[in-house]
Amino acid sequence: MNIYIMENAQEIGKAVGKLFVDAINKKPDITLGLATGASPIPTYKYIAEEYKKGNVSLKDVKTYNLDEYVNLPKEDKNSYYSFMHAELFDHTDIKEENVHFLNGNAENIEAECENYDDMLDEAKVDIQLLGIGRNGHIGFNEPSIRFSKGSFKVKLTQSTISANSKYFDENPMPTHALTMGVGSIMKAQKIVLIATGIDKADAISAMISGDVTPVCPASILQFHHDVDVYIDKAAASLL
Ligand code: PGA
Repeated sequence: MNIYIMENAQEIGKAVGKLFVDAINKKPDITLGLATGASPIPTYKYIAEEYKKGNVSLKDVKTYNLDEYVNLPKEDKNSYYSFMHAELFDHTDIKEENVHFLNGNAENIEAECENYDDMLDEAKVDIQLLGIGRNGHIGFNEPSIRFSKGSFKVKLTQSTISANSKYFDENPMPTHALTMGVGSIMKAQKIVLIATGIDKADAISAMISGDVTPVCPASILQFHHDVDVYIDKAAASLL
């Protein structure tokens, strides 16, 4: 793993944003695996600004998001579909037919997950962006007794519900989500993980220096050949 310790979230956003812009300019029809949450927002802002300046185009970029809530309408402001449009897609020339999400409202969840995995296998993700949960989750792969392979429906842990319920002011936060599996995440050519703040220090330490165990799903990244970890000093404080 390549570990980059930076001053703050803005600096990380600039560095990771530049990494993505350079990668898109090098391969305009690149396939990106994307993440939601607070961590990638400065990165998305940087990419949108570079698009506005005419320094990058996303017109041939394809994206696959990591996860989506179950039983939350796609148009809800808290869906990850809405998040990605508000934070990135609506500020660029990406084509709607090139953006992909797991459908948390699918009638047949099993078929939905199988179909998403087939699409991922065909598309082959060039760069996967990740955040990390306080409990070491990646995507919504919560601590478990085994690593997941493909996409599946997960019951969210209390740690995740506590971290994310602040976004749900009117309706209660969903208790389940669909997520790409750890096996699918590991198939990406390159992985870039962002974490900031003291709340992430335990998870970052377990991911980098702990045993590889499904109790800390992010620890599997020790077995990937190309992982860049961008963290601030607080998240790095237990290393
Ligand atoms: P955050 O979430 O970026 O909002 O901290 C990361 C995650 O839970 O994976």
